[in-house]
Amino acid sequence: MDSVRLRRDIAAVPAYVAGKPARATCGRPAFKLSSNELPWEPDPAVVGAVAAVALLAHRYPSAIGAGLTSALAQRLSVPTERIVVGGGSISLVQLLAQSVADQGDAVVFAWRSYEAYPIVIPVCHATPVPVPLAGFRHDLAAMADAARRTHARMVIVCSPNNPTGTAVSASELDEFIDAVPRDCLVVIDEAYHEFNDNPDAPDGIALARRHPNVAVLRTFSKAYGLAGMRVGYCVAPDHVADAMRKVGLPFTVSAVAEAAAVAALEAWPRQRERVNQIIEQRSAFTAAMRAAGYEIPDSRANFVWVPLGGESSDLDEAVRQAGISVRTFPGEGVRITIGEPEALDAVLDVARAFRLARTRG
Ligand SMILES: Cc1ncc(COP(=O)(O)O)c(C=O)c1O
Repeated sequence: MDSVRLRRDIAAVPAYVAGKPARATCGRPAFKLSSNELPWEPDPAVVGAVAAVALLAHRYPSAIGAGLTSALAQRLSVPTERIVVGGGSISLVQLLAQSVADQGDAVVFAWRSYEAYPIVIPVCHATPVPVPLAGFRHDLAAMADAARRTHARMVIVCSPNNPTGTAVSASELDEFIDAVPRDCLVVIDEAYHEFNDNPDAPDGIALARRHPNVAVLRTFSKAYGLAGMRVGYCVAPDHVADAMRKVGLPFTVSAVAEAAAVAALEAWPRQRERVNQIIEQRSAFTAAMRAAGYEIPDSRANFVWVPLGGESSDLDEAVRQAGISVRTFPGEGVRITIGEPEALDAVLDVARAFRLARTRG
């Protein structure tokens, strides 16, 4: 026994796989469609705010992101005490699990969904309870059953769902919240909320205001285009938010990230137009892929899911050769971010040729 011992369960925890970078081929530009990022640089007002705060880099930021918290409180009409900001919303999933789950307690989530859930939950010494999707959508009835059966402390609804893009409706979510025991925290992960153009889309913030056991997660990484800044926020019941501040480390949102997020809130009307462009491109890309013979579930996010099963890795390789990276789950499907129009055109060309070759072969 001559090496440091690790905790016993660590070998069984899966490692996070980040979206691959793209590699240029034959002098053609490379495009990264593998991380659900926006293709544009941040708004000039955001860049200006970051540059101004860079001069204060020798000072600590607010320990709890007080400036951003109060800007959010105003915008969302939620008391500051109920808002927790963190280094990306993924860090807040961890704080939620650490706050509500004792050793071995169940945390229910849909599967396949955001791949960080089955990592973060066991890291917090809780027990992951994945509930299979039904037709690419959350099976909310089965999830409520699982929450009751396992006496779960927390159940996560990811809507729109990563990677399938499907979303739950407001009425479905209302019914689900009613069916879950009152002592179980319902976490609505709305990382892609701003891309959900369904008139019946739920508003997690309103649900968190109304229900004493609902928390919502939002992020500046996706629609706000600040993935590199690492800022997200959670609106949680008072006592849960208090617990999150206790278990969380101080100073996790840097001064530059906080300034960027505050400026991005101000710049939202301009950013909204960019989000609308993504929504339009998503419709056109989905229609073209369907016309080419692919099954594509209706997406309400900034990506689409191509459930290709055993052919997934082959399509991944074909688009990689065209200089484009996508996110592939071997044996299941390929997730394609709605990014640069020329990248999507190139994916379409590859996908059409791929389908043609398969139907002929
Ligand atoms: C569903 C979902 N939730 C949360 C996150 C985490 O985002 P971030 O930590 O960048 O806020 C992601 C990122 O891809 C996601 O897809």
